[in-house]
Amino acid sequence: MLLLPGNNCEDLCKKLSARLNAEIADVEKRRFPDGEIYLRILGDLSDEEILVVSDTRSDSGIMETIFLLEAARGMNPGKLHLFIPYFSYSRQHMRYKQGESVSSKALVDIYNQYVDSIITIDIHDEETVGFSEKPFFNLKMGMSLKEFYSDFRPDIIVSPDDGGIERAKRLGELLGSMATNLDKVRLDSRNVAIQAPEGVDFRGKKILLIDDIISTGGTMIKAMELLKSKGISSLSVCAIHGIFVNSSDDRISSIADDLSVTNTIQGDYSKIDISSEVARHLVGE
Ligand code: R5P
Repeated sequence: MLLLPGNNCEDLCKKLSARLNAEIADVEKRRFPDGEIYLRILGDLSDEEILVVSDTRSDSGIMETIFLLEAARGMNPGKLHLFIPYFSYSRQHMRYKQGESVSSKALVDIYNQYVDSIITIDIHDEETVGFSEKPFFNLKMGMSLKEFYSDFRPDIIVSPDDGGIERAKRLGELLGSMATNLDKVRLDSRNVAIQAPEGVDFRGKKILLIDDIISTGGTMIKAMELLKSKGISSLSVCAIHGIFVNSSDDRISSIADDLSVTNTIQGDYSKIDISSEVARHLVGE
């Protein structure tokens, strides 16, 4: 397998390269004077199994990914796989109102033109996976989180809403901790109301609060305030994808005892490395 580094994924590519014993191809990248992206794959991809690793969180990252896929497909690879650590635009996976764009489907349709398979991590909604005509693997993180939190050993793993309870339970099984969820009602794109479940005693407990995404931080901050008011002994906060709009990481880390996210998006709090789980999937384990 040969790795093709797309947008903003150099570190993850290096980690995967070491784990898979796979080389990283050279890609020349620059901008035209008007800001448009130029890229060129250096070397020969013919008959090779290729893995494009690319961060599509920014719109220019999406463009770079598409251009890289088009360039790679034009070099007649044996197989062409796309690994997108954080699948952006997956929140709009249905037409809530007439005339809206199903943006996650639009992107899947484009990637499908070039790839033999798509791999991502903890996509916001599984519905997007169903849009793909090519195999689409949505990897759910387990062992990398278990390894990271095995010393902390939380008493209770808490999801801030019922949508994340499976993630909390999965980690709870691996760590031998109880799992529960809070009840969240979204008021608007930045505000939520959160209530504690009945019958769970949080007093004196070590809590690991985990969600798929931290964006504005509104969900986590409300959940943290609620849990702190219940007399817990310590609070670690975790998300798979740390987007951290408007420096929400600073606000969360000033309240929590620890804030850690995975390296699907590189940032100051990307302390959990998911490359081993991706490598295991790629070698068929
Ligand atoms: C919502 O369903 C997700 O699981 C997250 O809770 C949400 O995306 C977090 O967004 P924010 O940080 O803006 O509250």
